Amino acid sequence: MAIFLSGVKPTGIPTLGNYIGALRNFVKFQNEHKDDLFVFFVADLHAITTPQDPKELKQNIRNLVGLYLACGLNPDNMILFIQSEVSEHSEMGYVLQSVTYMGELERMTQYKDKAQKQTEGIASALFTYPVLMAADILLYDAEYVPVGDDQKQHLELTRDIAIRFNNRYGETFVVPEPLIAKTGSRIMDLQNPNKKMDKSADNNKGCIFLLEPLDSIRKKIKSAVTDSESIVRYDVENKPGISNLMTIYSSLTNLTYQEIEEKYRGIGYGQFKGDLAEIVVDEIAKIQNKFNEIINSPLLDQLLDEGRQKASQIARKKLCEVYKKVGLGRF
Ligand code: TYM
Repeated sequence: MAIFLSGVKPTGIPTLGNYIGALRNFVKFQNEHKDDLFVFFVADLHAITTPQDPKELKQNIRNLVGLYLACGLNPDNMILFIQSEVSEHSEMGYVLQSVTYMGELERMTQYKDKAQKQTEGIASALFTYPVLMAADILLYDAEYVPVGDDQKQHLELTRDIAIRFNNRYGETFVVPEPLIAKTGSRIMDLQNPNKKMDKSADNNKGCIFLLEPLDSIRKKIKSAVTDSESIVRYDVENKPGISNLMTIYSSLTNLTYQEIEEKYRGIGYGQFKGDLAEIVVDEIAKIQNKFNEIINSPLLDQLLDEGRQKASQIARKKLCEVYKKVGLGRF
């Protein structure tokens, strides 16, 4: 049995980027690998590496759990939990800091980008964040980690940490593989197609949120930045806006770029954007309907309680093994 693992930070409402780059693939892999185990969690400890309003954070955690399920994750072969409820994540993160070098963390591009945006000082947790992420993964012996393109560097670091630990203390961790989709692993901002669509962005106009009113989604797609050529053609360098919209189109319909180009040959951007708006709205409407059905159901807490228990069991065992190998305590 293989173990797949991934998490999402509750720093806001998940975006269309999170959906196409991550959540949708979780569902796809889960359907394709019914005999394997899927470990999914709400990465709330990661959220507080940048300032969060406590009330909003609480709400975002709940909404994310609801969205995981509304997107179609199946409780049958899944452990779903909230990261901070399984204390082994923090404990393992600390041990792994002792095998991670400052230089490695200084090279992390996400850290550099996010640090630049902080106005009130940079939390040291933002710097050590990738080590906590390594702990999240290594605690469960995960073999596969489905993520978007922006997490690739963190996954490479996780692999390096696992290999270093294994070399120093003996075979302990499974070295995980990232699973990054060919299409849709980096959805860009609709107003600035050179920037990633990001739930924590300051300007929301270029970002589609999964719980946003459908009309607002339509408007955002129709007013997405494109170019003046008015030819639907995939060319990231010269036509980043239209290429990004084509990626969204292709991801949600499974049409290739070439098929989309042919479909809209001789037809302007207006029709293309109008069609895309309906495709996106259809997909998100389904998620919102399911979300509204389940968000107040006691099933959510039942799943989270069960998930916490199962996750803690696996994580405690791994942590004890690590403490023992490192020579800590009386193990
Ligand atoms: P987060 O919350 O920033 O993003 C969640 C997932 O969505 C993907 N993603 C995107 N994919 C395509 N286009 C985009 N514009 C886009 N924006 C985000 C991300 O790549 C990610 O897969 N550190 C992680 C959470 C985490 C985690 C883990 C993931 C914590 N521990 C262990 C995997 C394994 C994060 O901040 O994701």
